[in-house]
Amino acid sequence: MEKTNIAIVGLGTVGTGVARLLLDHGDRTARHAGRTMWLKKVVDRDLGKHREVDLPEGVLTDSLDDVINDPEIEVVAQLIGGLEPARTIMLSLLEAGKNIVTANKALLAEHGAELFTRARELGRTIAFEASVAGGVPIIANISQCLSANQILSLEGILNGTSNFIVTQMDEKDAPYDDVVRRAQELGYAEANPAMDVDGTDVAQKLAILAHLAFGATVNWAEIPRVGIDGLDPDDLQYSRQLGYRIKLLALAKLADDGLELSVGPTLVRIGTPLAEVRDAFNAIRVIGDAVGPVFYHGLGAGQNPTASAVVADLIDTAVGRTRLTFQTLEYFSIDNPPRVKLRD
Ligand code: NAP
Ligand code: HSE
Repeated sequence: MEKTNIAIVGLGTVGTGVARLLLDHGDRTARHAGRTMWLKKVVDRDLGKHREVDLPEGVLTDSLDDVINDPEIEVVAQLIGGLEPARTIMLSLLEAGKNIVTANKALLAEHGAELFTRARELGRTIAFEASVAGGVPIIANISQCLSANQILSLEGILNGTSNFIVTQMDEKDAPYDDVVRRAQELGYAEANPAMDVDGTDVAQKLAILAHLAFGATVNWAEIPRVGIDGLDPDDLQYSRQLGYRIKLLALAKLADDGLELSVGPTLVRIGTPLAEVRDAFNAIRVIGDAVGPVFYHGLGAGQNPTASAVVADLIDTAVGRTRLTFQTLEYFSIDNPPRVKLRD
């Protein structure tokens, strides 16, 4: 059977999940890819750290050069968070001829144009299903399954950590600081959890979705955003008494005069689908002009759900399917995007 050699860069929460899926379910991935998905190298900076996965001898290294200089490695899961050195590493991997899979939405929201342009120039691909809504296949759905539609709006819960915090505070009266700590222990939170609770992570994901769904180039930092860090437990209680829950919602809506974008805590009537999204689950309601409303729901953070999306991207990349998403971005770069209205 043919073999695709894979590397992981960053063996943290997500990287560990990806390594486990590749090592423990080689039969499954081979069945879907029609080839062996072989984990050849894993790069992490601290070789002494306790690992939750048993890597075969010789796989773990602290040198990126072991991947860059290995022409047999075709696809790399780049799973380091933040902007630098993640950006420089991605560019080096592209220059070395690797196709990339990443979960790093902060990097794509900030430097996506540069990275995708360079990848295109080099004939490489970047797949990024895991960058928005973890295990929920929203990127593939918007860019491929709904491609016959003009998307009219999308609204949703895009941050598992904040939804976990709000749910635990609302249903269990749990103190804010305790729930933030628990979200970190469960592997939901960013290395800097402030980005989860202040709306930054949601704005970055919304910028990526707005690009795919509407062809709009959006500076995520300009999206009006309010987080859940200022929520008072009383707010949750009073809302409940009135028949509502508070959810951190992202909204993108095509209006006559442009695209409206916002992120903020929103009252959602109890009993409606978004109000019932609990803990680290995410949900997105998309309305397309042909399909009407479609609702996506699933775990938006955590090791296995995120690894599920990364491994699917690795398989797609190995068999050449990633180009579909990539071409969508290329198409939008020459399309006539809607004017972006950034208002509260
Ligand atoms: P993480 O647990 O912090 O893992 C990152 C790993 O990369 C750590 O082992 C880290 O080592 C290592 N690393 C950092 N800088 C490095 C460098 N220069 N060279 C080699 N290794 C380096 O983060 P994560 O939760 O797995 O998240 C990874 C990415 O996925 C982030 O972009 C995040 O936003 C995204 N994501 C996460 C989730 C989730 O649920 N966790 C879901 C979707 C997307 P140290 O431990 O020494 O720092
Ligand atoms: N920290 C992010 C969240 C991870 O809680 O949603 C998934 O992108």
